[in-house]
Amino acid sequence: MFEEYQNIIEEKIKSFSSFENCEFSHLLGAMNYSLSAGGKRIRPKLMMEFTRVCGKAPSVALNFAVALEMIHTYSLIHDDLPCMDNDDMRRGRPSCHKAFDEATALLAGDALLTDAFKLALSTENVPYENIVNAAAVLSECAGSHGMIGGQVIDLKYEASVAPLNVITELYRLKTGCLLKAAATIGCILADAEKEKINAASKFAENIGIAFQIRDDILDIIGSAEELGKPIGSDKNEQKSTYVSIVGLEEAQRQVNEYTDAALSELEIFGNEAENLKAFALSLIDRKL
Ligand code: IPE
Ligand code: IPE
Ligand code: MG
Ligand code: MG
Ligand code: MG
Repeated sequence: MFEEYQNIIEEKIKSFSSFENCEFSHLLGAMNYSLSAGGKRIRPKLMMEFTRVCGKAPSVALNFAVALEMIHTYSLIHDDLPCMDNDDMRRGRPSCHKAFDEATALLAGDALLTDAFKLALSTENVPYENIVNAAAVLSECAGSHGMIGGQVIDLKYEASVAPLNVITELYRLKTGCLLKAAATIGCILADAEKEKINAASKFAENIGIAFQIRDDILDIIGSAEELGKPIGSDKNEQKSTYVSIVGLEEAQRQVNEYTDAALSELEIFGNEAENLKAFALSLIDRKL
């Protein structure tokens, strides 16, 4: 989906990745290792599509889009560490802490997060006010009241059963928030009206919950080779997931339901939203 954005995202990632020969070149190596390992690039593509749907050239959002991918990549590096999910493979390669070491993986994550804001704030051809608003959304969605908050709840309910409403909240935060950042920042950079920003936000939040439930399902029925990460990780870490609480079948029904809820938010974008609709539908039975 959104293949038209793939090349320009990869090119930008390449051009922003530095390979200086210096005392900390192994840190730069670790950042580039994880960032260039691939991944579906869902978040940057979604951001650029929302910018287009709201009437501006998608390239206007490129710096923020790659910044978001850097933040997402950092979240995966830290997520795989032994003190978190303890996973040895990511994006088809040894996880960052396996290819390098734990301290380097920790610091590569920190650096990706911090450098992301430098890249985002170097956006051109957008009014300063919109850049500031977009940066505030990026910070909020990635921070304690966003993705990190979700990761903390995720760890809190290892080895004890979380109520379903808590799991929904944790999915909204750990996965929904970065997708929400993608959708709303795409609109903000296109100077869209409030109603569209709100609809984009609700669309992405619902997609985020559906995406995470499907991730849990794939952790059981998926193929490690296709996914590029181990399966059975949730069980090993005794996670409370949608699947562990309601079972596979009901979990998949919930994926469909949250996707329907997301689709109903697209009306305000009219015919322009066809690709967003197809994207949402493609996630229902994704295999990777
Ligand atoms: C993995 O995200 C983490 C979750 C939020 C489930 P993706 O499935 O988008 O991972 P990449 O970026 O394609 O590797
Ligand atoms: C999402 O949850 C991770 C982040 C928000 C970084 P998971 O821990 O289930 O993601 P995977 O399965 O390791 O990709
Ligand atoms: Mg995790
Ligand atoms: Mg994990
Ligand atoms: Mg998972």
